[in-house]
Amino acid sequence: MSIISKDISKAVKLLNNEEIVAIPTETVYGLAGNIYSEKAVKAIFETKQRPFFNPLIVHIPNIEYLETLVEDIPEKAKLLAEAFWPGPITLVLKKKSIIPYLITGGKDTVAVRIPNHPMTLELLATLDFPLAAPSANPFNRISPTTAEHVEGYFKNEIKMVLDGGPCQKGIESTIIGFENGEPIVYRLGSTSIEDLEAVVGNVIIKNKKEAAPEAPGMLERHYAPKTKTVLTSHLTKTLKDYKGLRIGLLTYNDILNNDAIDFKIILSESKNLEEAASKLYDALHQLDQQNLDIIIAEQLPDYGLGKSINDRLLRATKS
Ligand code: TXA
Ligand code: MG
Repeated sequence: MSIISKDISKAVKLLNNEEIVAIPTETVYGLAGNIYSEKAVKAIFETKQRPFFNPLIVHIPNIEYLETLVEDIPEKAKLLAEAFWPGPITLVLKKKSIIPYLITGGKDTVAVRIPNHPMTLELLATLDFPLAAPSANPFNRISPTTAEHVEGYFKNEIKMVLDGGPCQKGIESTIIGFENGEPIVYRLGSTSIEDLEAVVGNVIIKNKKEAAPEAPGMLERHYAPKTKTVLTSHLTKTLKDYKGLRIGLLTYNDILNNDAIDFKIILSESKNLEEAASKLYDALHQLDQQNLDIIIAEQLPDYGLGKSINDRLLRATKS
């Protein structure tokens, strides 16, 4: 029997019972549990096979809730919350003692966001606790953007995926911490740097493992297909390099027809970066199922969401 269901009250029951449930958000599906239940939070880590030092994002129903969980909220954090929530930014702030260290990987900060999905907002409003939810994929695998992706990963491990349709944004939230009150981007994501800067001025990006020990989850290899993947800005040359292999191609809007290509996905024929982002993970899931020898991914323009997409593609190529 399928674990996919649209029944919010069933999700409420399971979560109240300290079980974990996969939930839809505008970015990717999350694997959710009560932040105050050690049983549920441990089940999240175990199901994902995620190391305990890698902290979880806490999902809350509204802005007012924030003050019950964190303190010393910088002015620019307030501006960002007001501008983008509900929506794809996550703020890393000083935690209050009510947040268990199991959630934060032992750190004194906690990552918080309000997701923008009607079903999950209804769920959060009904529950009397916030939800810890990492992306609903096994550690180091491609994040899920449909209920079916989650079912493919976890049909034997969890009881329910709340089906909210395909995720509209398609890549994870942008994660922002603060140093001396100034915003630092730890993870590029569904909110572009340009959009952040329109609200708070210059932001600093520290999304490399070496530069951001504050964000222990930013391991280099991530979002990875099982198939060997390469990233290129010289498509014709790279196609020659892998001649004779079963090649899958992931391009932005390339219309090149080439006999060497066995399977091809175009992310946005009209060159729209939002559309490309929303299709990215499903494209990687599909490519990974074609028994290819290699996936060749074309680099996107390095601005707007193109920057976030390139970041994910680069991490997908690390072995
Ligand atoms: O869009 C999203 O953010 C999705 C949906 C489900 O909300 N969630 C998500 O969670 O992407 P996850 O677990 O895959 O990524 C969370 C990342 C961690 O890997 C870590 O880098 C960062 O958030 N993080 C969490 N708590 C942190 C903290 N206290 N300090 C710094 N980084 C933190
Ligand atoms: Mg993840």
